[in-house]
Amino acid sequence: MINLTIDGKKITVLDSTSVLDAARQNDISIPTLCHHPKLTPFGGCRLCIVEVKGIPRPVTSCTTPVSEGMEVTTTSPYLEDLRKTVLELILSDHPNDCMVCEKAGDCTLQELAYFYGINPPIPPLEKGGRGGIFAGERRVYTKRDGNPFIERAMEKCILCGRCVKVCDEVMGVGAIDFTYRGFKSKICPPYERDLDCVFCGQCVAVCPTGALTGKMWTLKGRQKEIKEVDTICPYCGVGCSITLHVRRNEVIRVSSKDDTINEGWLCVKGRFGYNFINHRDRLTRPLIRIAPKNTKEAQKIRSSEDKTISNSQPLNFSTSHVFREASWDEALDYIAEKLKTIKEKHGPDAIAGLSSARCTNEENYIFQKFMRASIGTNNIDHCARF
Ligand code: SF4
Ligand code: SF4
Ligand code: SF4
Ligand code: FES
Repeated sequence: MINLTIDGKKITVLDSTSVLDAARQNDISIPTLCHHPKLTPFGGCRLCIVEVKGIPRPVTSCTTPVSEGMEVTTTSPYLEDLRKTVLELILSDHPNDCMVCEKAGDCTLQELAYFYGINPPIPPLEKGGRGGIFAGERRVYTKRDGNPFIERAMEKCILCGRCVKVCDEVMGVGAIDFTYRGFKSKICPPYERDLDCVFCGQCVAVCPTGALTGKMWTLKGRQKEIKEVDTICPYCGVGCSITLHVRRNEVIRVSSKDDTINEGWLCVKGRFGYNFINHRDRLTRPLIRIAPKNTKEAQKIRSSEDKTISNSQPLNFSTSHVFREASWDEALDYIAEKLKTIKEKHGPDAIAGLSSARCTNEENYIFQKFMRASIGTNNIDHCARF
């Protein structure tokens, strides 16, 4: 164990803890941008600087390990002035379009700018330049990535490197990296092609700014309108914890919290595969297939004004895809009658049951019990086996 002092408070932490973690474990706040608790430290943003007695210049607390007897100061007019300058430099090369940014209200950069009282730079000068204290050139990227899931607004990128690290250290994919040098530094896939990866969206989840957002989220709702609902991903047996972001009874985004069994990480299905929830073709009531005698009758049924007839299927002059809506009682009675008839006529092994990974363990257990005990067959399978 290591004993040290932070802001005059005596604390004891495990060996090789960073100064930043030691402070946070003791409710001492230090601002950060590039640090993420689940990724290796980078030391890129310089916001977490602290003063250590005996060291002439400030050091980054996220990359400095504690040592016995260390005396750390996390805040002083000098440190706050340096931090403010760092933020002013970042914001001098930033669109500052929080009014229309998807990240507004959930953006670490915006929060820090507010905390340090940094006004957005004066309106753009000619050729994308900026006024303000650090007037000069600004990065402008007009080309947009054509991938289907992730909006990459690289002019909002602060080069914190979190996305690169999560893609490498957590996913083992390495789809993106730093390219070019100096002012031209940029995060992108090889040869600046469109992103072509597993689209887990982990990079989106760790990005502290609006540089990475979901394309499906665009213009769907502001943070203050969103109600969060914690639930379990319905796609597979891993059962990741997810948080649905709901606006006016519509799921507009999915995320996952850090303290969950999946540690906040999701796959492409869990993060982006939620469109089915509000899809107009989603089945919400039982449908019973009806068999018209001919195509004319099928067309008549489809064009019927009777709202119990489902017209959602494409009109293809086929007589085999006509359904009518039914109540659950009617549908279940109908199924029971049909199963009984088949079993009596052909025996239980003429029946097979296919269950779904979207059901819970308990539901799947009940289903196999029903097939074995009530129907009398072992013909049971499950979509997750394929
Ligand atoms: S990334 Fe943050 S600071 Fe930048 S425009 Fe969006 S909300 Fe504003
Ligand atoms: S979506 Fe996943 S795999 Fe693709 S770049 Fe982001 S972290 Fe890497
Ligand atoms: S895209 Fe986001 S996470 Fe990646 S370096 Fe830029 S700001 Fe950081
Ligand atoms: S958080 Fe330490 S340098 Fe960025």
